[in-house]
Amino acid sequence: MAFVDLMTPARFGRLSLANRVVMAPMTRARAAADGAVTDIMVEYYRQRSGAGLIITEGVYPSEVGKGYCRTPGLVDASQVAGWRRVTDAVHERGGTIVMQVMHVGRVAVAANKPTGVESVAPSAIAAKAKLYVDGDGGSWQPCDMPRALEADEIPGVIDDYRRCTERAYDAGFDGVELHGTSGYLPAQFLSTGTNHRQDQWGGSLENRLRFFVAVAEAMAAVDGADRVGFRICPANPYNDLHDDDPEATFRGLLAALNGLGLAYCHTLRMPTVGIDNEALCRGAFDGPVIINDSYTPQEANEALEVSRGDAVAFGRLFITNPDLAERIAANAELASTEADHIYDPGPEGYIDFPTMAG
Ligand SMILES: Cc1cc2nc3c(=O)[nH]c(=O)nc-3n(C[C@H](O)[C@H](O)[C@H](O)COP(=O)(O)O)c2cc1C
Repeated sequence: MAFVDLMTPARFGRLSLANRVVMAPMTRARAAADGAVTDIMVEYYRQRSGAGLIITEGVYPSEVGKGYCRTPGLVDASQVAGWRRVTDAVHERGGTIVMQVMHVGRVAVAANKPTGVESVAPSAIAAKAKLYVDGDGGSWQPCDMPRALEADEIPGVIDDYRRCTERAYDAGFDGVELHGTSGYLPAQFLSTGTNHRQDQWGGSLENRLRFFVAVAEAMAAVDGADRVGFRICPANPYNDLHDDDPEATFRGLLAALNGLGLAYCHTLRMPTVGIDNEALCRGAFDGPVIINDSYTPQEANEALEVSRGDAVAFGRLFITNPDLAERIAANAELASTEADHIYDPGPEGYIDFPTMAG
């Protein structure tokens, strides 16, 4: 096999990566209250366009799918225009960028949504988690009790993903990533702890997989599967998620997705969960795999050398090193990942990290 390191170009489906340094999706809460892209977001992504692939922060596909304050949406033409500024900025510098589609399902509080918009989930079971809410000095509020979706509403939710994918392409994105972990809606359907349904969307493994697979198919139907990736993390307990047998669930999921020809599978190794997620994805998925979680560039190169993955996503290092890929190429020193203002509004701690050049 040819020698592969972080600087080797790659092709994942229709996505061309100039190198294998992927920017992991990171919510930074810099959008306007109504979900619109702000000027500082354009600059933030522009600064990081040396990555072989940028995966944006989670973007909600419908108002119902919004859970956190100041997260961006892609629900209408004005939001398409906002994201177009981001994709233009990245493409002008030769970068490749996909948008992560994130429907939070039950991980939501009403105060973070437009007035009157509800929260939905496979079953009416509240997440034991608290979310930050702006206003009155800020507060942490428990997640809402979601309304269980009626069976005949579920195709409409799947269609929200399809329409959001259409808008993402209208906005100039090279592809889209289905967010399937961290306790959000697709993971809620997959997992026994959150899916107590007794219809065709719950119960057996085949039924619990149905929503995820249907969403992937709907996104692929827009302009081919080779522009659509997905992110999973078997056994990830984040946002109060539990599954009785995550290994079986995800083996089943990957087997069901294999025929589609999706662009990539993206996974977090998350060593605390006790499953070798990278090996699971490598063995069970028949396309490229992006690996992630606490990698240093050196360890990432070692992982590529033994083919644990085809590219490595870096999260926190990209917050403080906007030119991370260029630094790795130059073997230059990296800034520490310690940072303030991770989720605060405004430019501080967001677009003010120096590059190597200063
Ligand atoms: C501030 C922050 C926000 C994040 N937001 C998201 C997100 O929107 N979607 C997602 O899939 N993962 C999200 N993550 C997880 C990262 O993509 C990544 O998996 C994690 O940071 C581990 O990689 P690292 O050790 O290289 O930082 C977030 C992580 C951080 C630090």
